Amino acid sequence: MKSPCSSTIFPLFSFLLLSSFQTVILADSYQNFLQCLSFHSENNDTSNISQVIYTQHNSSFSSILEFSIRNFRKHGIQIRIRSGGHDYEALSYVSDVPFVILDLITLSEISIDGENKTAWVQSGATIGQLYYRIAEKSKTLAFPAGVCPTVGVGGHLSGGGYGFLLRKFGLAADNVVDALLIDVKGQLLDRKSMGEDLFWAIRGGGGASFGVILAWKINLVTVPSTLTVFTVHRTLEQNATKIVDKWQYVADKLPEDLYIRLFLTRSNSSSGRTTIRATFECLFLGGVDFLVPLMQQSLPELGLEKSDCIEMSWINSILYFAGFQGESMDVLLSRTPTSFYTFKAKSDYVKEPIPETAFEGIYERFYEQEAEGAVMIFIPYGGIMNEISESETPFPHRAGNIYKIQHLVYWQGGGDEAAERQINWIRRLYSYMASFVSKNPRAAYMNYRDLDIGTNNNKGYTSFKQGSVWGFKYFKSNFNRLVHVKTMVDPGNFFRNEQSIPPLYSRKKKGD
Ligand code: FDA
Repeated sequence: MKSPCSSTIFPLFSFLLLSSFQTVILADSYQNFLQCLSFHSENNDTSNISQVIYTQHNSSFSSILEFSIRNFRKHGIQIRIRSGGHDYEALSYVSDVPFVILDLITLSEISIDGENKTAWVQSGATIGQLYYRIAEKSKTLAFPAGVCPTVGVGGHLSGGGYGFLLRKFGLAADNVVDALLIDVKGQLLDRKSMGEDLFWAIRGGGGASFGVILAWKINLVTVPSTLTVFTVHRTLEQNATKIVDKWQYVADKLPEDLYIRLFLTRSNSSSGRTTIRATFECLFLGGVDFLVPLMQQSLPELGLEKSDCIEMSWINSILYFAGFQGESMDVLLSRTPTSFYTFKAKSDYVKEPIPETAFEGIYERFYEQEAEGAVMIFIPYGGIMNEISESETPFPHRAGNIYKIQHLVYWQGGGDEAAERQINWIRRLYSYMASFVSKNPRAAYMNYRDLDIGTNNNKGYTSFKQGSVWGFKYFKSNFNRLVHVKTMVDPGNFFRNEQSIPPLYSRKKKGD
């Protein structure tokens, strides 16, 4: 693991105080420095020495420093913006160049307007806190965002953001109606003053390329007061492959009130043998009496029974899927993670059902030693995702995708060697999957950040061509518009990281 070069972490609004803080430190060290010099000089008089020494203390420091400079260089320090800190590749708090972290954790106010079904939420809030505040106001208002309550609003909304309401209401970013952003010039902009291009870019193109997003105005959605959930497991011995195969043909065509995602993991069968387990997790926007016949009609192979299902409110379904079933809603306010595993993830989009026989190859890899903590999550598309055009927001994965796969492998301890082993394993799985998933580009989800698919040159110049390698996978042809917006709002590439949108430089380098 790389470690931060700078430990400077400060809330946004103490940024400006930093200079006065530095002054205090410098005043002290300035005196020490003078004393040290006088101690080592023949002339022990510090007042004489101080006349020829200039530090940031002296009002003439800048003019004297810059007087003879003919080639101004930038300091090269990067800014990393952190809201919830859940970036899969740690880009909000790790870099191999000097950087400061702008941590928005204290910027977490949420105000809900139940009457107009809108809310303002500051970027440092978590989605759990947002869900909590919505549920405080109403049992039938909701927001279509992710499953893990500790995910931050800042990164989540700017990279897309989806959860169990995806098929009915789309992404979190699809439900953003305004935002407050500080741009590279330090201007505070809202939707109107930033203009539609920039407002388009930050709803799925990742905020960190364009500025610091302080807050979002979102539309809340209406859900029934009673929803139904189930979690059903089937092993290979219980016909898992056949059910998974059938799921591929129906999951994106089911009514949009019905969302069934599935997990593949390694497990032990009832006889103690190692097997593969498919877990079907469902949220239905309605009562159990509608759900069971619907399931019997569309996926009878699962054998769903009424006793598998639980009716509950939307907020309780949030607790249920986050692993807090039966606990108080207050757990949603906590930012403390519940597990401390290390993981590596990758993503894929599936446009044609994977042949049943191809699952054998997946299982073979799951039986390998490194796959003890491996999981593939299949996320159904269809519903409203088919109705939103590819260019509506930077997130392009709409009609034509049956489902998305998240490939994950978790492990604990073992240092670099274990990490290398596990990462190699998931790369092998990813390589095996290549022929069954989207191609040209092999699409990926930006919020499941994966530096394996390409990176910018993090030191110095980075080109459109280099950015295109990973950019078209996350954004397809929306990448071109993102580059255009970046060139307009941050031509000097101040907001940059390993996968930030590059500007088009006026002076192109050879080969670009
Ligand atoms: P973090 O603070 O690390 O930021 C992520 C990126 O956004 C960084 O590049 C950062 O600089 C930038 N950024 C953050 N705040 C910004 C701001 N205010 N202005 C400008 N740029 C900003 N996704 C999903 O869609 N559905 C899900 O269910 C889940 N579940 C999930 C569970 C767990 C355990 C993890 C670790 C992650 C997920 N995710 C997810 C992925 C998640 O959506 C993604 O990692 C988000 O970018 C995290 O946003 P944070 O603010 O927490 O991260």
